[in-house]
Amino acid sequence: MSEQTALQTAYPAIVTRGDLGHFIDGGWHVSDGERLDTWNPATGEVLTTLARGTSADVDRAVASSRRAFEGPWSRFTPYQRQMALHRLHDLVDAHWEELCLIESLDVGVPLARMHATKDWTLRLIAYFASQATAGAGETLPNSMPGNFTTMTLKAPVGVVGGIIPWNGPLMSEWWIVAAALATGCTAVMKPAEDASLSVLRTAELVMEAGVPAGVVNVVTGLGREAGAALAAHPDVDRIAFTGSTETGREIIRASAVNMKRLQLELGGKSPDIVFADADLDVAVPGAAMGVFANSGQVCFAGTRVFVQRSIQDEFVARMAEFTRQIRVGDPLDLDTQLGPLISDKQLERVMGYVDIGGREGAELVVGGRRMGGAHANGFFVEPTIFSQVSNDMRIAREEIFGPVISVIPFDTAEDALRLANDTVYGLGGAVWSRDVGTVNTMVRGIQAGMVWVNCYGITDPSIGFGGYKQSGYGWKGGPQHIEGFLYQKAVYINGD
Ligand code: NAI
Ligand code: MG
Repeated sequence: MSEQTALQTAYPAIVTRGDLGHFIDGGWHVSDGERLDTWNPATGEVLTTLARGTSADVDRAVASSRRAFEGPWSRFTPYQRQMALHRLHDLVDAHWEELCLIESLDVGVPLARMHATKDWTLRLIAYFASQATAGAGETLPNSMPGNFTTMTLKAPVGVVGGIIPWNGPLMSEWWIVAAALATGCTAVMKPAEDASLSVLRTAELVMEAGVPAGVVNVVTGLGREAGAALAAHPDVDRIAFTGSTETGREIIRASAVNMKRLQLELGGKSPDIVFADADLDVAVPGAAMGVFANSGQVCFAGTRVFVQRSIQDEFVARMAEFTRQIRVGDPLDLDTQLGPLISDKQLERVMGYVDIGGREGAELVVGGRRMGGAHANGFFVEPTIFSQVSNDMRIAREEIFGPVISVIPFDTAEDALRLANDTVYGLGGAVWSRDVGTVNTMVRGIQAGMVWVNCYGITDPSIGFGGYKQSGYGWKGGPQHIEGFLYQKAVYINGD
């Protein structure tokens, strides 16, 4: 057996079966339409093919989700939905190695990073299980004549369309799937064309957990086809979207057709502010990995690193030193910290920005090249730092979505805040300082849906995060997330 064959046989079934369709109404719906190639970004090889969903496929999936919503799923008690989530928690736990391998092959996420997200993913499912019996309305006093009892009641919003990107589908899908299961909604998922496999596999696990057919459907395909059809579908009640700000605008426009409720998590250009009194032993790796984690393909990556001028040289030198030690390479190698970008399209985009940075007069400190040698066929870019960046350069204004840091000097806290907030985005932001006064000023002043202090990029499902400005709206995580999957009715009970 050749080495290649030996590896092939170890591939998960979802990768090798070769006839992937949409997952609709509890099973595979193999469409006879066109197929799309999906790549292993670490090797540039076609991994398998996906069904290219049409609006007819979306119609079929939405109709199935509607039937499930009104039929068997509506008869599940909150406790039964909670138990389904508990079973899913255990299934995800039991299949974790397989799911990691799928994600690693399909998305290029290093296995070691996948392993590190296990606890987070299971906690997220457990959190939403706990919310299945929450989502309570209130009994409220009224001052009306007569014998009235008045209250608010919460009810599931209906069929939710989940449109998610390629930068971590196994993580992002659960915000939608688990919330739908907790609240009694149903979901039609449209994963990104570059990264659909873990979402398809999850749909099988949802069935294994005893959830009725149609509660979670998956349609694969292109954004402008299957995605647009879902976003505009008149029988979809809510869209939960994560992706680019541009596509977010399309989703808003499409929602007008039936006044869909929206949750939008969009782009970012988050500020990460390092003061001279910060503990650099923590701030240097923290700020670096705040961008480089997942090869920079993170919506809240802290890509604008503002550094107080007095420590500028030392900080840049130490961050460059840290960056040179990062192990970039084969995602399946357990020592690898950073994998490739998702596609040649993203590679081109990121290399384009490296070029722009140079032409704008920023100083390239480290990285900036596509990787060659054993990695020449994959979509690898070296982790890259630009210093002497000014906040009005394009590399400081536009979302690059790759491992590229812009270091921007500042003098006072006031300057830092002004520059940090001078962006159309408002997703994340951080401050590194040991001075509680500085921390308080920055925490209040940074205009973003998340602010981290002496850390970067951590999230907890029971607290969650959201966007401000053009980074979107609709909270993810915590009780407010559950609220988004429910609508409220006022009930007036006349006892006379
Ligand atoms: P995108 O926003 O177009 O894709 C995200 C999802 O939306 C995918 O599932 C896609 O199929 C779907 N989609 C695309 N057009 C649609 C439409 N008209 N209607 C409904 N669904 C649609 O992002 P893309 O093109 O993959 O990446 C481009 C840039 O977007 C990246 O370089 C990055 O800057 C940004 N991005 C940001 C993300 C974030 O988490 N904030 C995630 C992915 C991309
Ligand atoms: Mg892929």
